[in-house]
Amino acid sequence: MSRIAYVNGRYLPHRDAFVHVEDRGYQFADGVYEVCEVRGGKLIDERRHLDRLDRSLKELRIAAPMSRGALSTVLRETVRRNLVRDGLVYLQVTRGVSRRDHGFPAASVPPSIVVTARSANFAKNDATAAAGMKVISLPENRWDRVDIKSVGLLPNVLAKQAAREAGAGEAWFVDAQGFVTEGASTNAWILTQDGVLVTRPAEHGILRGITRTVLMDVAAEMQLKVEERAFTLDEAKAAKEAFVSSATSLIMPVIAIDGTPVGTGAVGPVARSLRSEFHKFAEASA
Ligand code: PDD
Repeated sequence: MSRIAYVNGRYLPHRDAFVHVEDRGYQFADGVYEVCEVRGGKLIDERRHLDRLDRSLKELRIAAPMSRGALSTVLRETVRRNLVRDGLVYLQVTRGVSRRDHGFPAASVPPSIVVTARSANFAKNDATAAAGMKVISLPENRWDRVDIKSVGLLPNVLAKQAAREAGAGEAWFVDAQGFVTEGASTNAWILTQDGVLVTRPAEHGILRGITRTVLMDVAAEMQLKVEERAFTLDEAKAAKEAFVSSATSLIMPVIAIDGTPVGTGAVGPVARSLRSEFHKFAEASA
């Protein structure tokens, strides 16, 4: 089976799926994206991902490439054509193709859209979650609008690579005041010694993760108290448990931060339960 990508109105073989050299996504990272989990052939939390896409586009004044209904059809069709049952669907919208010039192109230039889908090995992801993951910390060096899911991810790319080279799975950004913001591609959480879940408020300093939003419902059902406040790296190192959340990693337990074991240094029961309960609360669309 050959992979298929949707590019500006056409379903193309993956090897022939190109965007123009003057696409503003390529030239300026002038675009936004979403990553949605596919599980059992269904899109997970599609509505929330498309709501967030709308918001990102609006914040950057990029026009919607098509109606939500049409976009939904393209997402499904891309998943279907790639025979994805378990995996992810990726969607990117940029400000379109125009002669290189920093200012916006004419309003008549249509946005570009690319959708890809691929299978993922969920069993492997579960095995990683069962073992837990290490994180490292790095100074926050991103712009102050990381609430927009922009394709401008260079600091995130460098942070993730630094984590890999240190034998860790994720890097946590720490702001100038010593508070953890979020991971390179995940939101950060801790469980305090008193059993309170803490995660940074979703203001401009972090991306409002969809997994994070759904976890609030899971926590409520599990009668866990959640505090949306910033926490320091020292507080995280002294926590009972820590974990990260994202559409691709779901809930991924953190067992060490910069080499310091968190809690017992093994995966904790709360992170494990949140992970196992998650899909009872996420929306699975047909
Ligand atoms: N990343 N924070 C950042 C910086 C992210 O890039 C992501 C998602 C999240 C979690 O958001 P959500 O729960 O909606 O996936 C938080 C995606 C998965 C990625 O870039 O691949």
